[in-house]
Amino acid sequence: MRKQVAIIGAGPAGLLLGHLLRAEGIDCVVVERQTGEYVLSRIRAGVLQQGTVAMMERLGLDARMKQEGLPHDGFNLADGERLIRIDIKALTGKQVMVYGQTELTRDLMEASEERDLEVIYQAADVALHDIESNAPYITYTKDGAEHRIDARFIVGCDGFHGPSRQAIPASVGQTFERVYPFGWLGILADVPPCNHELIYAHHERGFALASQRSQTRSRYYIDVALTEKLEDWSDDRIWDELSIRLGPDAAAHITRGPSIEKSIAPLRSFVFEPMRHGSLLLCGDAAHIVPPTGAKGLNLAASDVHYAHEALTAFFRKADNDAIPAYSSKALRRVWAAERFSWSLTKLMHRFPEDGPFERRMQLAELDYIASSEHARRVIAENYVGLPV
Ligand code: FAD
Ligand code: DHB
Repeated sequence: MRKQVAIIGAGPAGLLLGHLLRAEGIDCVVVERQTGEYVLSRIRAGVLQQGTVAMMERLGLDARMKQEGLPHDGFNLADGERLIRIDIKALTGKQVMVYGQTELTRDLMEASEERDLEVIYQAADVALHDIESNAPYITYTKDGAEHRIDARFIVGCDGFHGPSRQAIPASVGQTFERVYPFGWLGILADVPPCNHELIYAHHERGFALASQRSQTRSRYYIDVALTEKLEDWSDDRIWDELSIRLGPDAAAHITRGPSIEKSIAPLRSFVFEPMRHGSLLLCGDAAHIVPPTGAKGLNLAASDVHYAHEALTAFFRKADNDAIPAYSSKALRRVWAAERFSWSLTKLMHRFPEDGPFERRMQLAELDYIASSEHARRVIAENYVGLPV
């Protein structure tokens, strides 16, 4: 098979890029290791920035999102005693959309056939070849047969553990990493949310987040030590801990119910530079990871896709040879801005094992400053809704 672009990974980044390229008449294919059902079973992000929503609008794939998504004008930070509301609408003129990654991915997946976007699921042993040339190709096996796709460009949208980043020689790449000493234990339950807006809580027992997927489905997180085992966390124990950490007002409105999903995700900050080598471009988690505080992971993947789509379109439609070399630095500027915000909000809202009473007071003093200063709230709001692309 010969295509202009071969995309590895059918997560949000790969599918979004595939649709944007097809809309420009660029011939591409998406190759995914898992089944479609498996991709949709992974419960991940829940908050979309306006830029991500705009990409779905541009594709004309926003109908269900407009109907079922929940636009939010603000969110809250909590310091164990009070809620500090960040009025993002008043401070930035923008909103965020509560709409699960699963739903966004489903919308992209369901539209692929009608829009002639070929997605090959259950492709095993995907490998990249000749990425330093103008004629790279990928190979994979499916149903026992070996396949090859020749392309002008390969785009690695294959997440943190995929083969694309690893295809770039170590001598040309640089890695920046911070692994945090805790993970987020998430619970999904069909119960109404405890608050109409999100609450990120800093409590002396640890972090908690009250989020939602709809008016009848809640998503909550608490941070736990990496040594904790999921089987030691019964639903009741999680609800008890959430009730303490979110504070009495939110606790009074928590509706308990059986979990329909429970998982622990480690927290990491990670950036790989450059995001392009030869004929290979990286997008999303393949190139970078942010800790989830700040809801940036999926939105950052979407902004990479925006730049990659722009560069590939300039190459194929306008014969512009400068756009592809500029991709990495353009995307990385925004990546580092999101890394900084996610790292700073993680530091503000979590208890680190090495921290003592002084560091805790520093966190509380910063939260108090945020509560008292509109400037401080504006800085947070501006970053939360996403800096301009
Ligand atoms: P992915 O969604 O990881 O998609 C990559 C795709 O590539 C997958 O479908 C994978 O199967 C495929 N792939 C991998 N290897 C291969 C291969 N060898 N061959 C072919 N295909 C391959 N962000 C938030 O903002 N909020 C959250 O609450 C949140 N929770 C998260 C929880 C977890 C457990 C994880 C891992 C991430 C979470 N994130 C969260 C981050 C967010 O979900 C990601 O940033 C987002 O999924 C990135 O999209 P992506 O398309 O780049 O990567
Ligand atoms: C969700 C996850 C986040 O990381 C976040 O910052 C906000 C919401 C969620 O899964 O709903």
